[in-house]
Amino acid sequence: MAFVFQSLLVFYLLAKVKDTDGPTEFGSSDSSRIQQAFVNEKEPSVLSKSTCGTLSKTALSAIKRATTKKCKEELSDIACKLKNNQLVPERLPNYCPRKDSVPGSSLGCFHDNNQSRLLSSYGVKLPGLTNQKCIDLCAQSAFLYAGTHNGKECYCGNKKPSLEHLLTKTYCSVPCDGQSSQTCGGVDATEIFDSGVPTRDSAKLQAPIVNGTAKIAFILTLNGRALRQVTRLLRVIYRPHHVYLIHVDARQDFLFRSLLQLELKYPNIRISRKRQSSIWGGVSLLDVLLQSMEQLLEIDSQWQFVFNLSESDFPLRSIESLEALLAANPGRNFLKSHGRQTRQFIHKQGLDRVFHQCESRMWRVGDRNLPAGIRIDGGSDWVGLARSVVEFATSPSHSNDPLLRGLKELYRYTLLPAESFFHVLILNSKFCDSYADNNLRMTLWRRSQGCLCQHRHVVDWCGCSPMVFRTADWTHLTSVMAKSTVFFARKFEAAIDQSVMNRLEEQLTNTSLSYPGLDCYWESAYHRADLTPKPNQALLAVALSLAKHSISLLLQNSVAECPGLRPSRVVAITSYFRHDHYQGDLIHFEVDEKEVEFEALVKPLTKTTHLMESPRILSTLQVGSDFDPKEQVFRNRLGVLTSRSKPIVIFKWTGHINTTAASQLAHLVWFDPDDNVRAVHNVNVTDASKVI
Ligand SMILES: *[C@@H]1O[C@H](CO)[C@@H](O)[C@H](O)[C@H]1NC(C)=O
Ligand SMILES: *[C@@H]1O[C@H](CO)[C@@H](O)[C@H](O)[C@H]1NC(C)=O
Ligand SMILES: *[C@@H]1O[C@H](CO)[C@@H](O)[C@H](O)[C@H]1NC(C)=O
Ligand SMILES: *[C@@H]1O[C@H](CO)[C@@H](O)[C@H](O)[C@H]1NC(C)=O
Ligand SMILES: *[C@@H]1O[C@H](CO)[C@@H](O)[C@H](O)[C@H]1NC(C)=O
Ligand SMILES: *[C@@H]1O[C@H](CO)[C@@H](O)[C@H](O)[C@H]1NC(C)=O
Repeated sequence: MAFVFQSLLVFYLLAKVKDTDGPTEFGSSDSSRIQQAFVNEKEPSVLSKSTCGTLSKTALSAIKRATTKKCKEELSDIACKLKNNQLVPERLPNYCPRKDSVPGSSLGCFHDNNQSRLLSSYGVKLPGLTNQKCIDLCAQSAFLYAGTHNGKECYCGNKKPSLEHLLTKTYCSVPCDGQSSQTCGGVDATEIFDSGVPTRDSAKLQAPIVNGTAKIAFILTLNGRALRQVTRLLRVIYRPHHVYLIHVDARQDFLFRSLLQLELKYPNIRISRKRQSSIWGGVSLLDVLLQSMEQLLEIDSQWQFVFNLSESDFPLRSIESLEALLAANPGRNFLKSHGRQTRQFIHKQGLDRVFHQCESRMWRVGDRNLPAGIRIDGGSDWVGLARSVVEFATSPSHSNDPLLRGLKELYRYTLLPAESFFHVLILNSKFCDSYADNNLRMTLWRRSQGCLCQHRHVVDWCGCSPMVFRTADWTHLTSVMAKSTVFFARKFEAAIDQSVMNRLEEQLTNTSLSYPGLDCYWESAYHRADLTPKPNQALLAVALSLAKHSISLLLQNSVAECPGLRPSRVVAITSYFRHDHYQGDLIHFEVDEKEVEFEALVKPLTKTTHLMESPRILSTLQVGSDFDPKEQVFRNRLGVLTSRSKPIVIFKWTGHINTTAASQLAHLVWFDPDDNVRAVHNVNVTDASKVI
């Protein structure tokens, strides 16, 4: 390794010499040999290219785990820029009008100590403290006042200090740790400043105007294959006078293809042709949104608000009632802020880290300081924005605005960018007064299940996801529906619980629904015409052999001779549900004689045999893969396993255990299709239930 590194160094020097067009000291044969070494050794070549010396452990780990040269290079480049302070803007302008507050103006020196802090919301010991640093820090978290204490400490709070604590300036004469010509409070004394944050509470929303109207643009960012759920959502929110732009993830050809039909029928529905694929928390989500908003501005010059939805959203109130509220609140921006302390939020959200997206993963590259001068905020990425903000954020004529440009740079390397970009842009721009801390939505959180770090395969971070509403949540749902400012809820998933959506829609439309197949749901699992994603070959092979089996069953019961009834090709596979229970998959296939097509319903069966001498009775035994720990279901419903599947077993025991019995262990034996034993697990039957 050391040798390779050295020769790389030589190569680097050589390249430099060539750059300046001067005479080279090396013969050409040397240079080609060294170049060879460079090409052969992939990983170190990228590492050594970091012209900025040793990188942090976090950065090195990301570079090491990435597999493509391009991604490795990008990561090392970003790590270098971060190290050289070239990645994050140091300070950004704040254009939010300040009214009567003057940022940084001193209120005076106040008697203050740790027995009773005047500014008690947040405090930190900051090496290199200056008054400005403390003011920036407090302003970042939207605190109204900042106070420096004893040269090194910074305090933030919102309560204006009472004049009874005011001291003469001489009590605050300890030099600042970061600048000795300046004073930063004193012993038992704090100098308090106005942080310059204008208002903390957003203005209240105006009550809806009866029969008021507003033109809305909806952005639907869709993923998956839940066509029936998507069309249902569209049917409920569709009105001829609104605009709809649908972005389907670049990998979801089935959904894209199917929805294209809508464009022919409805002039105000557009399917975006600029498609990207996004991952959880990825930077590309913000790109998708900004790009979709740009398209919407081009498509229609009249809409006043944009709302974003996904396939798992569903309205709780009518679109007319939303219009009535919007009509009364022109120009307002509907965003929901986190309900915590901002410092905590920044840390939990990873805003103080640099992330980079490549190879469909968000890699953590290192730590950063957020720009000074602006207020940081964030929360839900489900938003409703006024047209003016969308125009500002996307129009090329504003691309040189220092705040907008700086934020776009910052959010290019930010995890979950859509959960904070618009919040920060609005709060620090001339639009700050339009911020309504209400996104008109509700989300079902159950953090014990939703925060299982289930995105680790795509991101170097642990985040949470909301739960799917089920019929059992109905009371909760109706109590929220009673609130007049909740218009949408998430998540809903028909493959898990469609009944709750049926009930919701009945309530919403005040009619009893009478669609055909209301109690049924079906969702595509494969279609022959799909260009992406790549078909699961194991699934297709199993489906074809099940098709053959179903034909042979058919012929057994038939008197007629049917030559040529040989299944030749699987056309589609569709999962089928009834009363929220999985009924099996429908395999649609062709036979050799082209005119006939068949559909067979197949369902995996579990066979369990109870052994009487067993210490407890096995009441549940499920084997499968793609287990979703949040919703506690197997996503691979048909249960076709391949050599790359990670099988999971769920079992439950019932009955009392005889604790005196010698055998408390059951053996879990895995056989492969050739009946070879592949693994044995010992299971303690005193554990009532378990997922392995
Ligand atoms: C409070 O301040 C005093 C003296 O300034 C110090 O001795 C003591 O440890 C402090 N207490 C806390 C809880 O920080
Ligand atoms: C609202 O519209 C309904 C139906 O068009 C109408 O009967 C009613 O008078 C309108 N109310 C107001 C306040 O305009
Ligand atoms: C909009 O909706 C999608 C869900 O489809 C979400 O992931 C995204 O972050 C949202 N963000 C904004 C700012 O609209
Ligand atoms: C719902 O419909 C019923 C009968 O069709 C009607 O009596 C009732 O007033 C309606 N409720 C609402 C809130 O519109
Ligand atoms: C428990 O197990 C012991 C030893 O196997 C046996 O002698 C005893 O009868 C069992 N008790 C019950 C209640 O089954
Ligand atoms: C099974 O688990 C119980 C309780 O956790 C423990 O007391 C017992 O020793 C275990 N039995 C075996 C054989 O490991």
